[in-house]
Amino acid sequence: MDESQLSTSLRGKRLALGVTGSIAAYKAVGLLRALAREGAIVSVVMTQAATRFVTPLTFEVLSGRRVATDLFESHEEMAHLAIPGQAHAMVVAPATANFLAKAALGLADDLLSTMLLNARCPVIVAPAMDGDMWTHPTVVHHVQTLRARGVVVLDPEVGPLASGQIAQGRLPAESRIMEAVHAAVTAQQDWQGQRVLISAGPTQEPIDPVRFVSNRSSGKMGYAIAEAARDRGAEVTLVTGPSSLMSPSGVTTISVNTASEMSDALSRHFPSSTVLIMAAAVADFRPKMPVGQKLKKQGQSALVLELEATPDILSMLSARRTSQIVIGFAAETEHVLSHAKGKLKEKGLDLIIANDVTQAGGGFGSDDNAVVILSATGEQKTLELMPKRRLADEILTVVRDLCLTSSHRQSLVE
Ligand code: CTP
Repeated sequence: MDESQLSTSLRGKRLALGVTGSIAAYKAVGLLRALAREGAIVSVVMTQAATRFVTPLTFEVLSGRRVATDLFESHEEMAHLAIPGQAHAMVVAPATANFLAKAALGLADDLLSTMLLNARCPVIVAPAMDGDMWTHPTVVHHVQTLRARGVVVLDPEVGPLASGQIAQGRLPAESRIMEAVHAAVTAQQDWQGQRVLISAGPTQEPIDPVRFVSNRSSGKMGYAIAEAARDRGAEVTLVTGPSSLMSPSGVTTISVNTASEMSDALSRHFPSSTVLIMAAAVADFRPKMPVGQKLKKQGQSALVLELEATPDILSMLSARRTSQIVIGFAAETEHVLSHAKGKLKEKGLDLIIANDVTQAGGGFGSDDNAVVILSATGEQKTLELMPKRRLADEILTVVRDLCLTSSHRQSLVE
């Protein structure tokens, strides 16, 4: 991006700038000036340790606003709620290893960490620390946790550090932090106004109190779509089967176990939704007579379980639709496109996302995926192997272009 393009592009954007106790705190002064130059309204929050490196007065003069440092300071507005509540994005630069740990664990023992728990806006973290700290397994783990939660953690840069070491640990360049801020605040809000209902994960159908029938779905694809839709302005409800993933912030998450519970939860929310994306791998069959007590071997060499079909939730909801867009997934191991086309028609869908679950590097449990999207009106779009979070955005763009435009709605009605 050239300088002229950037010049006023943050005008009117409210940003929270968190500064923590690293020697690189002085660089946050330059960052504040760059943000203010582009018209951003910046509220600076410093940890106590940061105030040992740079005075709050420096930030106060440059931002033209009071600098908050203390959770217990009495002010008319409660800074830990008001600042993140109004912010379009929150930037923590520099972020120490201690801050990353607190953020990953959800500790809230000072103003900045408490604000972070109240933030529902994009959060960008620019770490700075000694090289050995950055590569310490604990820090690596915390960074992974934060990234999995959708926090943008920039990689520090390699170069001479305060310790004299040359290693990866320098605060990312101001231009990189600015780029991340731009990406966060100018993210397309093209799903604003949509109420999106998403299902994810497997279902578990009990055999007895300790055993169940299920499948290998991890929930990653559905969760990624939920996060992407949230980031693009949609109001998102996620109905999820058992998954080890963390509930995405800013998304209403409903946890269920069985197909029947999933069906109930989706049926409740479907009427008020505008789009249903059924990414869950619903078990097709369940034990017909789950037993109340743990089944005993009792010397038997075999056990026959009688299974019955679960309700086809997608077909049921699609038959009940008023104006909702209804989108399904097709998990296939062979004849992917022809099977997917069959499901698109039989279930009365607007779109189906065909997923070859046997492909190398993609499918169940993987962080990446590749899909082909087929529409009821004959369009076909292939999305190559990519991280599920990026794929989620691509899927939302295709859905927007094919289904949310008025001309397509018209053709569906005709
Ligand atoms: N689905 C559903 N309820 C079921 C089974 C599936 O709502 N009881 C939904 C899935 O969430 C998915 C779509 O239907 O969006 C297709 O699921 P898939 O497992 O690929 O196909 P099935 O319809 O189960 O058919 P088959 O198992 O024969 O491939």
